[in-house]
Amino acid sequence: MLTFLKVLAFNGLIILFFWYVGNSIPQQRKDPPKESDLTVDMTTEAFVAAGEEIFYGKGTCALCHTIGEKGERCPNLAGIGELADARVQEASYQGDASDGPEYLVESLHNPAVYVVDGYQPTMPALGRQLNDLEMVAVVAFLQSLGGEVTVTGETRFAKYRGEGDAATAATSAAGAAPAEVAAAGGTGPELAAQWGCLACHSVDAPIRLVGPSLYDIGARQDENFIRESILKPDAVIAEGFPPNLMQLTLDGTGFYQKLAIQDLNTLVDYLASLKGGE
Ligand code: HEC
Ligand code: HEC
Repeated sequence: MLTFLKVLAFNGLIILFFWYVGNSIPQQRKDPPKESDLTVDMTTEAFVAAGEEIFYGKGTCALCHTIGEKGERCPNLAGIGELADARVQEASYQGDASDGPEYLVESLHNPAVYVVDGYQPTMPALGRQLNDLEMVAVVAFLQSLGGEVTVTGETRFAKYRGEGDAATAATSAAGAAPAEVAAAGGTGPELAAQWGCLACHSVDAPIRLVGPSLYDIGARQDENFIRESILKPDAVIAEGFPPNLMQLTLDGTGFYQKLAIQDLNTLVDYLASLKGGE
C-alpha cells in the first residue's frame, strides 16, 4: 500500500512538473491571428498587416520566399502585386485565373499551374489551409507588393475555394487527421516533389540546401528516424541546422502530419532506399 501511495505521489509530481514546464516555456512563435480576429469589415491596411503576419508566420511562406533579394530556390516576391496581373496575360499562361488576385490564389491552391521561369514546381499547395479571410489577407499583402490592393473582406475566390462557404473553410483550416486524408498515391520522388521536400532537401547529391542532403539518409538512419523526422521534426534536430523549420505550420498541428499514412509510408520507403549512390 505504501508503495502504491509513493507511486501515486510520484506520478502526481511528474504531472505537476510537466504542467509547470509546459506553462513556463515561452511560446516560440506568435499565435497566428485567429479566424475570429479577422473580420469582413477590416480596413485594407488591416488586411495587408494580417497577411504580412501570415506570410512570415504560420503561412510558412517566408521559409522559402524572399521579398527584395533574388531567391535561390524560390522566387523573390517583390513586385508580385503588379506581376500577378501580367502573368495571366502571358501567352504561355494555361491556368483559370482571370486577374491578378485570382492568379495569387491559384498560386496557393495549384502552384504547378504556372511555374515561374527558372524554378522547380516544389511549392506545396497551401491554399486549403487558409480560411476565406486569411486568404483575402494574404492576397492583400501580396498585392501590396508593387501593386494596388483591390480585394476586400467581401472578396471570395469561389473558383478555387468552392462556394466560399465559411463552414467548409473553417473545417479545412482546422485540419484533418491524417487518417481522413485521401492518399495522393504516386511514387516517392513524386511525393517528395509535391510536398515541397525538394525545396529544402537535395536527394541526389551531398549538397546542403535549407536542410541536410537526404541523398544518403537511408545509409545514415533507419525508417523510424526518418518517419519521426517528418512527423515530429523537432524530436531530433540534425546537427548544425535550425530547429522548427519543418514544424512551422499553418494551423499549428504539423504540416507534414497531413500526409496520408499511405503516402507517408511511400515517402519513408523511398528515403530509406537512398544510400548515397552505394
Ligand atoms: C517549400 C517552399 C515554398 C513555400 C513554403 C511557399 N512557396 Fe510560393 N513558391 C515556391 C516555389 C519554388 C515557387 C516557384 C515555382 C512555381 O511557380 O510553382 C513559388 C511560387 C509562388 C508564387 C508565384 C510567383 C510568381 O512570380 O508568379 C506565389 C505568388 C507564391 N509562391 C506565394 C507563396 C505564399 C503566399 C506562400 C505562403 C502561404 C508560399 N508561396 C509558400 C516555393 C514555396
Ligand atoms: C522549409 C524547409 C524544409 C522542408 C520543406 C522540408 N524539410 Fe526536412 N528538414 C529541414 C531542416 C532545416 C532539417 C534539419 C533540422 C531538423 O532535423 O529538424 C530537416 C531535416 C529532415 C530530415 C532529417 C535529416 C537528417 O539528416 O537527419 C529528414 C529525413 C527530412 N527533413 C525529410 C523531409 C521530408 C520527407 C520533407 C517533405 C515531406 C521535408 N523534409 C521537408 C527543412 C525542410
